[in-house]
Amino acid sequence: MKRVLFVCLGNICRSPAAEGVLRQLVQKAGLSSEIEIGSAGTIGFHEGKLPDARMRAAAGRRGYTLDSRARHFTARFFADYDLIVTMDASNQANVFALAPDDASRAKVRAFCSFCRSHGETEVPDPYYGGPEGFDHVLDLLEDGCAGLLDELRGAKS
Ligand code: 4NP
Repeated sequence: MKRVLFVCLGNICRSPAAEGVLRQLVQKAGLSSEIEIGSAGTIGFHEGKLPDARMRAAAGRRGYTLDSRARHFTARFFADYDLIVTMDASNQANVFALAPDDASRAKVRAFCSFCRSHGETEVPDPYYGGPEGFDHVLDLLEDGCAGLLDELRGAKS
């Protein structure tokens, strides 16, 4: 079992969408019993909420159902997950600041390091932008989640 956690700021846009995209890829690959997926945000402000309606709509148009509830990332998540995937550099700095040891720090990767078709280094925060921002996020997430799944499968065999 591999446990993957996506982390953004609010846990209502980027990381729950990444969770939904990877979950569907994992289900299609028949690996649901081997890969556990979660998400969290470095601020607790939206805790308990469903993903942002704009992100749910954009994801829904691509066939993804986003129904997770926002969680606040805390140091205990380092023990609960094997791989912690951050959406941007600020999220990564916030996660590193909570890491209790080197083993925890070694679990952290930038989401865009898994992308193969996109050259960006961060998944941009779509919260204050227009509707096209949500589609751009989903383009990046589909690219990176495919790369991430391939890496997990490679690591498994
Ligand atoms: P996310 O987007 O980090 O992709 O979930 C945001 C959601 C909420 C806020 C900022 C970014 N906010 O400031 O409340």
